[in-house]
Amino acid sequence: MLINVLNTKPSIGNEAVVFFIDFENPNYPEKLNAGSIESIERQILLDKSIIEVHQSKSCIFLAKKKEETDLEPYRKLGNELSQLTQKEKLGVITIDGHSLQPNELLAFTEGLALSGYRFLTYFKPEARSKKIFSVTQIDLYHPNLIERDAENLNHLIKATFWVRDMVNEPVSVMNAIRFSKEVVLKGQEASFNVEVLHKMKIESLRMGGLMAVNRGSIDPPTFTICEYKPTQATNKKPFVLVGKGVMYDTGGLSLKPTLNSMDQMKCDMAGAAAVAGTFYSLALQQVPVWVIGLMPATDNRPDGNAYTPGDVITMYNGLHVEVMNTDAEGRLILADALTYADQYEPELVIDLATLTGSAQMAIGQEASVMMGNASDMWFQKLEEAGTEVHERLVRFPFWDEYKEPLKSPIADLKNIGKREAGAISAGKFLEHFTKSPYIHIDIAGTAFLTADDSYRLQGGTGVGVRLLTDFFKKISITQQND
Ligand code: BES
Ligand code: ZN
Ligand code: ZN
Repeated sequence: MLINVLNTKPSIGNEAVVFFIDFENPNYPEKLNAGSIESIERQILLDKSIIEVHQSKSCIFLAKKKEETDLEPYRKLGNELSQLTQKEKLGVITIDGHSLQPNELLAFTEGLALSGYRFLTYFKPEARSKKIFSVTQIDLYHPNLIERDAENLNHLIKATFWVRDMVNEPVSVMNAIRFSKEVVLKGQEASFNVEVLHKMKIESLRMGGLMAVNRGSIDPPTFTICEYKPTQATNKKPFVLVGKGVMYDTGGLSLKPTLNSMDQMKCDMAGAAAVAGTFYSLALQQVPVWVIGLMPATDNRPDGNAYTPGDVITMYNGLHVEVMNTDAEGRLILADALTYADQYEPELVIDLATLTGSAQMAIGQEASVMMGNASDMWFQKLEEAGTEVHERLVRFPFWDEYKEPLKSPIADLKNIGKREAGAISAGKFLEHFTKSPYIHIDIAGTAFLTADDSYRLQGGTGVGVRLLTDFFKKISITQQND
């Protein structure tokens, strides 16, 4: 799918044209004939938000202008249009957005484009060609839109789709090695550095958390490091992003109950995928910010050699952890990555992880959970970005009382706390492993959906890419102005 900017106002006669009008006080586009207008007026009474009429060989859509200044209704409207275009098998959509604000038009287009994602690898060719999204091109008209706006949106969609693809691939394909190879390829394409640490190196560094979780696996672990440092970067100290890359989570020897709870666990690498996707997006869009990414990756399985409940492991920072539940594996691999991050003396460390069922139970798929010890300013900026792109964030408390249940009678700490406030004790566990200003984002509820929710389709959502791209864009602008 390609999004372009048109220099001239589109008119009826194209394959499909979209106009935005005020349904209460309609101002119709030129060249509509009396029959079309009659049909439109009939449909306005039906309380639709998009009206479709056919005139000569052209498909005309009239979309209802929204009153709110919020952008999300426009993304949702874009999703509605995607369903109509798919029914009509339309290929090229021309959008006359002159009556909207440029950002409203871009949000509409984003919703339309994100709705065009399909994961069709495992369908036979005939089924694939039927299911594929028919729209291949979206042409935008707005007097204040420049080519760069469309290019950036193309990049953002591409990065989000890549993340969705990686999350949707089953573990038999998307193991740690394959994941790191994907990131290397994208690094070459978009010009950011990627280094992959393999099993021997991970062992020689003594990343005890990552090694322990990997012990039951048939595949070796990887630790992927990305760096994006454009010459125009506005920050002196890097931001470090850390992503949980559990390629599949069976729970290990503390096996998850087999009825349903394992079905979606290929999504347990969505944090790592989102971090990789953010690099791809930032580099393609040449956002002037210096960022480092760390993605520890392995699956978590039971096996003769698997780590066990009761084991004590020595982490990369030297702390000893008593493993009380092998299903609390994400925090073990993230902990080593957080310690690794300190060597960069980061401005801020943010991790993204499908970390706890507790976060999902608390607020469902409507927002991700964030917490940490960084200054309020960073939380505010993240929250703003989340609201802007509608990847919303809710801040949880991070009081030291939540550390208490992590005490172990025989080691520095254990890997689970109490059942209550499980999302927070997971965050508190992680805090032991970093000396930097830190924010933890739990995406367990938002990374993967079992049913379509507007433009967030069933499967991997790509959550994190739009959020962090917007966050870094905002930061690079404020820093430029400082
Ligand atoms: N990967 C899971 C968390 C998860 C749950 C992700 C639902 C996506 C959807 C994580 O590794 C896990 O198993 N967490 C346990 C921790 C518990 C054993 C302390 C949980 O949340 O139940
Ligand atoms: Zn687990
Ligand atoms: Zn997990």
